[in-house]
Amino acid sequence: MSWKVVDSANAQIERRTEPWCTEAMKADWTERILPRYERSQGALMPILHDVQHAYRHVPYQAMLEIASFLGITPAEVLDTVSFYEEYTTEPVGACVIGICQSIACEVCGHQALLDHCRDSLGIEPHETTEDGLFTLLALECLGSCGTAPVALFNETLHENLTIETIDDLIAKVRQGGGDSEH
Ligand code: FES
Repeated sequence: MSWKVVDSANAQIERRTEPWCTEAMKADWTERILPRYERSQGALMPILHDVQHAYRHVPYQAMLEIASFLGITPAEVLDTVSFYEEYTTEPVGACVIGICQSIACEVCGHQALLDHCRDSLGIEPHETTEDGLFTLLALECLGSCGTAPVALFNETLHENLTIETIDDLIAKVRQGGGDSEH
């Protein structure tokens, strides 16, 4: 392995004139999210969740806007985005399939499920299909070891999975139903 040096301090971020965090979003956060936390930092994750949900990613410009809204540094926002799998800096598909790869699911055959998804979607983990419908992820323990193997289709947990049930779930998303956000 070799280290790759990235000159991030001087990197130019893509900007657009229109803000990603709209006045309506900020009004909603002020009314619904901020009062739940003693300090503004506490609101960071639910706000990031909203932005990820609205745009299927958290653009760098949005991170600056969120930092300014909460009175925290852009680095604090980027640290959080880059730490959690839930947030992405590139747009994800309408349906994010997260196959659990931790020990209980590994023992119960997660590899066969992951390989099957790879083959049937034609993508590797962390990639998105060209039609923008699916992103594939391999995740750590989803807290449902007793019903392994499990996977998330967006925010819905599916348990005791088999190749057949995975195929059914993928087919439902392709038909415009299932756990997709389109
Ligand atoms: S190991 Fe898969 S849910 Fe815990």
